[in-house]
Amino acid sequence: MNKVLKQKHIKNEDIIIEPNEILKQVSQEVTLPLSKDDRNLLRILYNHVSNSQDPEYAKKYNIRAAVGIAAIQIGYAKRLLAIKVLDENNKQHKYMLANPKYIYQSEQMAYLANGEGCLSVETGKYDGIVPRHYHIKVEAYNFFTNSTETIELTGYMAIVLQHEMDHLDGILYIDKINKLNPYLKKEEWLEV
Ligand code: NI
Repeated sequence: MNKVLKQKHIKNEDIIIEPNEILKQVSQEVTLPLSKDDRNLLRILYNHVSNSQDPEYAKKYNIRAAVGIAAIQIGYAKRLLAIKVLDENNKQHKYMLANPKYIYQSEQMAYLANGEGCLSVETGKYDGIVPRHYHIKVEAYNFFTNSTETIELTGYMAIVLQHEMDHLDGILYIDKINKLNPYLKKEEWLEV
C-alpha cells in the first residue's frame, strides 16, 4: 500500500491530512539497530524536511515548508521522526530519531505566540494556543550520531520536539487547543 520507501522521496499527496484516522494511531517502537527500511525511512523523512526549506524545491514539487515530520504522517506507524530547524539563536538542530522517550517534562508550560502548524493540518483551519512543557529531556536513538542520546531542550526547540513526539502517540496540536476558547492561556505560561 505504501510506496514512499520505493519512491525514495515524499510527494505532497503522500502526506496524510486530518481528519484521517491513521494519524490517531499509536506508532510502534522500532528495533535497534535500525533495519535498512527504517534507516531509509528516516533519511526520506529528514530529506523532506530539508528540501521543504529550499524555496525552489518546495515550489517545484508543491510542498509546504516544515521543520519536522513523523513517520505516521506518511502512513508508517513507527516511532521515527526527523527535525531540521534553527533555534532562537540561529543554531541549527538536526535530528533523525527513533523511539524517543521523555525522561523529564517541566511543570512550567509554554506556547508559541503564533501558534503551531503541521503538514497534516490544513493551514489556518484551526488556530489557537497549544500548551507545551517549557523544558524537556528526551532519550532517543539519533541516526545522525548513531547513538542513544539524552536531548535537553527548552523553549522553541522543546515545542518542536514535543509536536513531533505527539504524532507518535496519535496526537495532533489541534487536539491540545482549548475547544471552547482556543486562545485560552494561563498567566504563568511562557510565551515563546
Ligand atoms: Ni505535525
